[in-house]
Amino acid sequence: MEYRALLVSEAQEKQFTAQVTTLDTDNLPAGEVLIEVQYSSLNYKDALSASGNRGVTREYPHTPGIDAAGIVRESANEQFSSGDEVIVIGYDLGMNTAGGFGQFIRVPAGWVVRKPKGLALRDSMCLGTAGFTAALCVDKLLAAGLEKDHGEVLVTGATGGVGVVAIALLSKLGFQVVASTGKPQASDWLRDFGAADIIDRAEMSEENKRPLLKERWAAAVDVAGGNSLLNILKTLRYGGSVAACGLVESPVFQASVLPFILRSVNLLGVDSVELPIERKQAVWDKLSSEWQLESLEKMVTEIGFDELAASLDKVLKGQAQGRYLLNLQS
Ligand SMILES: NC(=O)c1ccc[n+]([C@@H]2O[C@H](COP(=O)([O-])OP(=O)(O)OC[C@H]3O[C@@H](n4cnc5c(N)ncnc54)[C@H](OP(=O)(O)O)[C@@H]3O)[C@@H](O)[C@H]2O)c1
Repeated sequence: MEYRALLVSEAQEKQFTAQVTTLDTDNLPAGEVLIEVQYSSLNYKDALSASGNRGVTREYPHTPGIDAAGIVRESANEQFSSGDEVIVIGYDLGMNTAGGFGQFIRVPAGWVVRKPKGLALRDSMCLGTAGFTAALCVDKLLAAGLEKDHGEVLVTGATGGVGVVAIALLSKLGFQVVASTGKPQASDWLRDFGAADIIDRAEMSEENKRPLLKERWAAAVDVAGGNSLLNILKTLRYGGSVAACGLVESPVFQASVLPFILRSVNLLGVDSVELPIERKQAVWDKLSSEWQLESLEKMVTEIGFDELAASLDKVLKGQAQGRYLLNLQS
């Protein structure tokens, strides 16, 4: 069966081109479940894959897209039947397995989550991996003992996908949220999602040799890494936690043990990709019920194949604000 997809190819050595083309489902990888993708979304990792980053995708030609939501068309696994509405995020989807920027994917059943009743397929991809990861960060902070009366919670990379969903979710749960952003012009937009205060990203990434700074944050969701993560550790209040999920500033930071042994702070690692499927299902179930966000539509720009390449470029350059939803039927 023929379908449309974005195909990234290496035209000349280290020169990559991306174009929308017609492919055939016969050439999809082996797998138990064939899914007709209705929606996908754009993540930083997709922008890397689409620009030829071999740390993400080893072999080209390739169709990126780490997120997909759609309808099962064929299943060799008894857990799924034709017509089921499902979500696939992470594992190898879009990395070295043809991903959600095509109208069909074929994947192992172990990657597939049944779409919860309370969440539309479209809404699941308004969230996508970024929104799912924000929820995972919040889940980890709560499990580490965070409570509403502990004080302010910081979110870095606030206008990005993880950031804006983390702000909306923490604010819905009654936390006092402070947004760190490099886009001061987006302050009102961030307040609309529940940010009580805004700080400049440059303030967070400032170098400071002192091993501890004045305590401020009860907790933090950090997508930056680098100096920002170091400064968060130095400014967490006694017993506070940071959920670290990203590296937009830097994958490297040079911490001292003092915040850990003098203030008993917690550095919580967050990975959405290899998370066991039962945990993935549980987080999606939460996002469809008590954590359902009313503000999803406001954070999303819907695009079709025509706008895909330009939007990926914006994500790669850190210029995107909120989430891009890809409608594969348009
Ligand atoms: N661990 C996981 O499972 C997982 C899952 C999803 C994403 N991630 C990672 O989380 C990070 C954010 O993902 P995303 O989808 O939210 O990306 P995104 O939508 O591209 O947003 C990233 C945001 O970070 C801020 N930023 C950009 N350059 C920066 C810099 N040099 N220093 C500090 N902040 C900068 C910008 O927000 P402001 O202008 O508002 O500061 C930007 O909008 C990425 O590193 C991604 O790989 C990890």
